[in-house]
Amino acid sequence: MRSSARRMRRVGRELAGDPVEFLINLPDLVLETPERRAKRLKGGGFMPWPPRPYVALVDWEQRLHEQLRAPWPCPDGDAFRELWDQILGELERRKLPVGRGAFAGWGDGEPGLTRAVWCLVRHQRPETVVETGVARGITSRVVLEALAANGVGRLWSIDLPPPGQPGLHEQIGAAVPDRLHRRWRYVRGSSRRRLRGLLHELGTIDLFIHDSKHTERNLRFELGHAWKALTPGGFLVADDVDLNHGFHAFQADHPEAATLLCLAEPLTPDVGRQEDRGVFALVRAPMSEASASESLPVPPVRAPAPR
Ligand SMILES: C[S@@+](CC[C@H](N)C(=O)[O-])C[C@H]1O[C@@H](n2cnc3c(N)ncnc32)[C@H](O)[C@@H]1O
Repeated sequence: MRSSARRMRRVGRELAGDPVEFLINLPDLVLETPERRAKRLKGGGFMPWPPRPYVALVDWEQRLHEQLRAPWPCPDGDAFRELWDQILGELERRKLPVGRGAFAGWGDGEPGLTRAVWCLVRHQRPETVVETGVARGITSRVVLEALAANGVGRLWSIDLPPPGQPGLHEQIGAAVPDRLHRRWRYVRGSSRRRLRGLLHELGTIDLFIHDSKHTERNLRFELGHAWKALTPGGFLVADDVDLNHGFHAFQADHPEAATLLCLAEPLTPDVGRQEDRGVFALVRAPMSEASASESLPVPPVRAPAPR
């Protein structure tokens, strides 16, 4: 009883805070009810039910570099580690604690996913990058620093700040310094509202990063549209794919996609997630019809430990 009253209050705050977004996302609110209920009643509050753990790779990083035809060990690894320490130090000095759930329940980008993104941008040298989900902007910062180091490329970031919590909105993009804004466009609003129009405007994209609402319906929506806009050999990155069944559905819909499933590296154990870490996915579009065999899915090497 008490929890449904809490939910009703939250819905009321969201409606009052941004009626347009509320109405656009109303179908999601209704259609995602069974998923949310299963998570709440059987999945410990946040894991999908029934459980469908992924087979994650231990050597995803090396395989990624092989796919990118980049040297391994990565010569840009030290630069990433320095950048990571710098970002964390800057946020700490501003008294913005980072980690899973640190931003109104949303998690900040962690070192595994952001290192993958850094290497993708440095080695792939994309011109057009789109991401969803900014929060304090750790992935945005990493992408923008890598684009600046490349001297080419721009980032578009779609983000709906936590509705009904205006006090947090000034923290959006806090990790991105002014000097990087030249290559950045922040697109405020839900991906449901903004993504299709942005992709239409851009025509094609080289890299897409999903880190917004982690529901099956939303993940399928974002990946489905981004996949159609990807240039041959372009990449999708999807964070937290263990939090819903959407990525399983994407794989079934796109057997041509070459996927690396990777264990996240949360700053502290993410208890209850797959292997207490969580999983992110890297997906490459075929290079072209003729060379699609280059992008065949990489066979898994390790099954997750039983929970
Ligand atoms: C997991 S956080 C993003 C973390 C960020 N990538 C980083 O590295 O620090 C998710 C963000 O997506 C926003 N968000 C939630 N639902 C969204 C939606 N439907 N569309 C776009 N953004 C959304 C949240 O308010 C939050 O700012």
